[in-house]
Amino acid sequence: MSEILTHTDAGVMTITFNRLDKKNSITAAMYGLMADAIAQAQSDDSVRVVVMQGHESIFSAGNDIADFLNHPPDSNEANVFRFLRGIASLQKPIVAAVAGPAVGIGTTLLFHCDLVYAGDNAAFSMPFVNLGLCPEAASSLLAPQMFGYHRAAEALLLGEAFYAEAALDVGLVNRVVPPTEVNGYAQAQARKLAAKPLSALIATKRLMKGSQSAAVLAQMDVEIESFGRMLKEPAAQEAFGAFLAKRKPDFSKV
Ligand code: COA
Repeated sequence: MSEILTHTDAGVMTITFNRLDKKNSITAAMYGLMADAIAQAQSDDSVRVVVMQGHESIFSAGNDIADFLNHPPDSNEANVFRFLRGIASLQKPIVAAVAGPAVGIGTTLLFHCDLVYAGDNAAFSMPFVNLGLCPEAASSLLAPQMFGYHRAAEALLLGEAFYAEAALDVGLVNRVVPPTEVNGYAQAQARKLAAKPLSALIATKRLMKGSQSAAVLAQMDVEIESFGRMLKEPAAQEAFGAFLAKRKPDFSKV
């Protein structure tokens, strides 16, 4: 079965991470499937709302680290960046359902969702520094804006996890529900949106995002430049090697 499941029903396209044995970590091929699904959601009149969801035990462990080594996203056209630009630019609403860990892009993609529902087991983290990397998905712009600078610095510099109630407090999450209910709750909210006039949803989202949209895409480009370079540098290589060997990284020389 595909590692990204997509189906559309009653105007709602649901994209599901389906790689539980690897904690829903995301490969370049999976980003490709998601980028294509988002492009279809944009152009297909039968899609009015997109839902992104994982499993009640895990949303996503972020980028697949082995795949990162084998297929580093080294151009602006890499699938991961196509996916990120896709969700940042989608005119229609995106609803996310997050339960369990949401690591790296599992958290940063949420900045591009319109409604975010979390299980009370949700754990958000952006451990880019711990991997010798820098933020992506315009999170270096959007996290300080949403959380305030100091709370964003704690999340992005220390890279420690924060939990559902803290995410609610900083405005990353709309509502916390039991993990077994989060996908159903998000689906119900998406269906409410899908029953509304699409033209009004699109106009309202565009007006709320306003001039920010161009700044977000520009920030992604700046991040991509650093991220692509840092992937090949000693700090990231040490972090990835340590993860794959299941040992602690040694950053004393980088
Ligand atoms: N890339 C590749 N494989 C991953 C992965 C990732 N990001 N996250 C988990 N996996 C794999 C593990 O290597 C393991 O594979 P194995 O069974 O072949 O050994 C399997 O998924 C289960 O992971 P495990 O760590 O045993 O599960 P856990 O429940 O103890 O912990 C996480 C779950 C998500 C907290 C933990 O896996 C984790 O921290 N992953 C790395 C997250 C990360 O740094 N992502 C990159 C962000 S840019």
